[in-house]
Amino acid sequence: MKWWTTVSMAVLASASLMFAACGGDNAAPSNRGKAGGQAHAHGFHPDVPADYKDKKPPEGMDLKNADVIAKGKELFGNADRGNCVSCHGASGKGDGPLGANLDPKPGNLTDPDVHEHVSDAYIFWRIKTGNAGWGNHDGKVSGMLGFANGTDEEIWQLVAYVRSLNGK
Ligand code: HEC
Repeated sequence: MKWWTTVSMAVLASASLMFAACGGDNAAPSNRGKAGGQAHAHGFHPDVPADYKDKKPPEGMDLKNADVIAKGKELFGNADRGNCVSCHGASGKGDGPLGANLDPKPGNLTDPDVHEHVSDAYIFWRIKTGNAGWGNHDGKVSGMLGFANGTDEEIWQLVAYVRSLNGK
């Protein structure tokens, strides 16, 4: 076998491993890293705990509904309530003034790759529990504040807004 065949086979093998680690179901054991959750090029997404995994919006609430998204947008920017803009920025790209000095940096909530890898229940859980949901990953504690004093309905409105940012 020529050396370049060996090299390209090794590259292919690791590429498919990476694909497996990034794809699909959070609960699959093969996706679990050292500290649980998924790490890939666009950040670290912890596994959704059992008591949040099956969370659904209140009966009759459609996360794609324009009014629901508009309410979420209002909370996202409202300095007295969600105040997500302070870290995530008005665009949701993670460029808010308070986010600048954080390590890890606020996630880019417009990144389609993030949307592909997380469920609505994941986003709900992260907003409700903030950095407690991120835990201590690689010795780092996230500055994610979330919206602990929001009602579940308000948090779902934020989920709807965050989802609407996909690809923006
Ligand atoms: C004080 C800064 C700060 C505030 C305020 C804040 N966040 Fe975050 N947020 C972060 C940081 C830092 C991260 C990245 C690390 C992590 O996932 O915990 C993050 C991560 C997230 C994630 C997970 C992204 C992913 O890829 O896993 C979501 C969703 C999110 N924030 C939504 C919100 C919403 C909605 C609000 C408003 C209620 C908010 N954040 C308020 C700092 C903040």
